[in-house]
Amino acid sequence: MQKIVILTGAGISAESGLGTFRDKDGIWTRYRIEDVATPQAFARDPDLVHRFYNTRRTQAAGARPNAAHQALARLQTEHPGEVIIVTQNVDRLHEAAGAQNVIHMHGELARALCASCGARWDAAPEIGPHDACPHCGARACRPDVVWFGEMPYRMEEILAHLSEAAIFAAIGTSGQVYPAAGFAQEAALAGAHCIEINLESSAVAADFDDTRQGTASETVPGWVADILCE
Ligand code: OAD
Repeated sequence: MQKIVILTGAGISAESGLGTFRDKDGIWTRYRIEDVATPQAFARDPDLVHRFYNTRRTQAAGARPNAAHQALARLQTEHPGEVIIVTQNVDRLHEAAGAQNVIHMHGELARALCASCGARWDAAPEIGPHDACPHCGARACRPDVVWFGEMPYRMEEILAHLSEAAIFAAIGTSGQVYPAAGFAQEAALAGAHCIEINLESSAVAADFDDTRQGTASETVPGWVADILCE
């Protein structure tokens, strides 16, 4: 049965009210990456970095999945082959829509990570650098998100899925951040049909066989219906 691998980015959660990074008014127009999203920023000013992610955690907790998240969860249930969802998003809107086994390659706002021993736990709505690790007791708490300069999570597993994909879809991502931006090339090498579903052409649009342009809530349900031959 055909395996489908889907990569999602901030664009899929935009209509749920969570800001994207690089669009007009995007998060990186209001904050500098080097101030809030690097290990060096955290070493310099951990309170500032925690405040940034605490705000985003609160926003994400209040957001509801939209028709695009729901359509992908339905595809997982109704497609006879495996459907793997890999997301760069740190929200839990895929899970809230009912998706299973989502691979969060850039981590999750809902989790905290001990910078000393590597233990993870469910984050309270507000966390700070001096929160004690429930495992080792160290006061070295950080958000469980991947920063620029760090290795995304579960890369071996993702590359194995891409090598088996018959269809690869990238949804709501600008194609500006690697390694995710290279997934279409990886999947194409393995023979997958690659489709980009986005509001506009991404930086890596040339790596795709096919494209659908529009908002995720309009385009993704139609694409899912086509895959399911409805
Ligand atoms: P970006 O903000 O770079 O790109 C969002 C993409 O979604 C753009 O191409 C938009 O055109 C598109 N878009 C906006 N609204 C949309 C809608 N309603 N429907 C469909 N598409 C829409 O976000 P990402 O590509 O996810 O990493 O960014 C990748 C990574 O860069 C993030 O995971 C984050 C960020 O810095 C880290 O923080 C490590």
